Amino acid sequence: MAGETEQGSRYRQIAEQIKQAIHSGSLPPDSRLPSVRTLATQYSVSMTTALKTLRTLEDEHYAVARPKSGFFVAPRPVNKTFPTLINEQAREVAPLDEQTELHLAMLGSDCRVRLDLANGDLSLYPVKKIGLLMRQMGYSKPALLGNTVKGTGYAPLKNEIARRAVDYGCNINADDILITNGCIEAISLALRATTRPGDIVAVESPCYFVLLQMLHNLNLRVIEVEAGPEGYVNVEKLTSLFQRKAVQAYLTINNINNPLGKSIPNEQKAYIARQADENDVVIIEDDIFGDTAFGERRPFPMRAFSPNAILCSGFSKTVAPGIRIGWVHSSNYMRKIASLKYTTSMGTSVLSQAAIAELLRSGGYDAHLRKLRRELKNQIQHMRQAVLRYFPPGTRVSDPEGGYVLWVEMPIGALNVRALFLKARNAGIGIAPGHIFATDHRYDHCFRLNAGFGWNAEVEQAIQQLAQWCQLSITQG
Ligand SMILES: Cc1ncc(COP(=O)(O)O)c(C=O)c1O
Repeated sequence: MAGETEQGSRYRQIAEQIKQAIHSGSLPPDSRLPSVRTLATQYSVSMTTALKTLRTLEDEHYAVARPKSGFFVAPRPVNKTFPTLINEQAREVAPLDEQTELHLAMLGSDCRVRLDLANGDLSLYPVKKIGLLMRQMGYSKPALLGNTVKGTGYAPLKNEIARRAVDYGCNINADDILITNGCIEAISLALRATTRPGDIVAVESPCYFVLLQMLHNLNLRVIEVEAGPEGYVNVEKLTSLFQRKAVQAYLTINNINNPLGKSIPNEQKAYIARQADENDVVIIEDDIFGDTAFGERRPFPMRAFSPNAILCSGFSKTVAPGIRIGWVHSSNYMRKIASLKYTTSMGTSVLSQAAIAELLRSGGYDAHLRKLRRELKNQIQHMRQAVLRYFPPGTRVSDPEGGYVLWVEMPIGALNVRALFLKARNAGIGIAPGHIFATDHRYDHCFRLNAGFGWNAEVEQAIQQLAQWCQLSITQG
């Protein structure tokens, strides 16, 4: 058994060294990798371990096997690792291991108590109204279902978005808006329009895991800037990256951050935006939770402070999680974004856009938002109180200013969140484990909880159960 473990870690070590050589360019694409025999001699390991090393590289798309010729570096190495993290000291980030991939795949799959996602029960949303509008409009304007999908989106919806943006400090032209399939597509288009593979993007840490995955898939590198004690990004560290020209873009959820739930104050936003402009850093902001802020005034996005910021948002968190309507605004990159959209998905369902446009125009959207915020605030508060009540001393929980989620931190080293995630899943409880919010292990003692599915006895029991497992984990060391 011990031998197996040793062998197990040895082939990984060797594979890591080879990967580093691939990343650094000393093993260029298409170059021949050492044969099994050479590798075995070179590293003083068995032929089996050497072969396993090469097979691992193949599984992770770093290497390709060519019949009768051996193993070669993959033509364009698919970056299976999260790329180098350039911090004060540059360092390699661990590969996205199989377990993490599995956990990501499990998120959102069926479970009894839905604490994993960042959205809510259907009762929170005007889905009946949207359904009715779609039926009525599909009937009275069948052209909406015709060949009208091409282009940047349904003009009345773009006008409504531009009109509402004035309320949160953004004077934007409807022509500079493009409607997308959800906010995620908006961000992806914005990143593709403004960066090239290998560029470095600053993100807030912890970072919404889909954004990390997106950066990874676009072959972009990442610098994760941790939040300060106020719960939003450390502004000094962030802007020092801009000043040192260490990043090309800043991808930010600066309003009701996912997962921390805080907004960056206006003064800091203005400063960050100015620094970005002075240092040619593109700001791409994900403002999807802006409308869910609990406070008196909806927070401003960075676009309010710089005309160059690219603003992305959508209606998944306010109208219906499955409506798949998002949008992107850019004053500088719209032509490129439109071209990318055209060749990605041509356009976005016009009937859905028309229904949302009508809801925004005359469907009591503001009244709905007020109710949604009230309910979310109430649900968040109940769940937060329960975490404070049931979890062991030393547990920290965020105090969100809006949105759906809470971020829970156990004392460092007190929790193996991967094990907790699987245990909870087996009991029908979904949580979002901390490790998927970073490219390394810094949040292995944390997890995110969703309060969007209401507060009831079953949810309370689930919180109690999670608390007991965390307590057990502390007791057992
Ligand atoms: C920060 C953030 N951005 C974007 C999305 C997804 O947006 P959409 O469903 O509109 O693509 C989510 C969903 O949870 C999110 O949390």
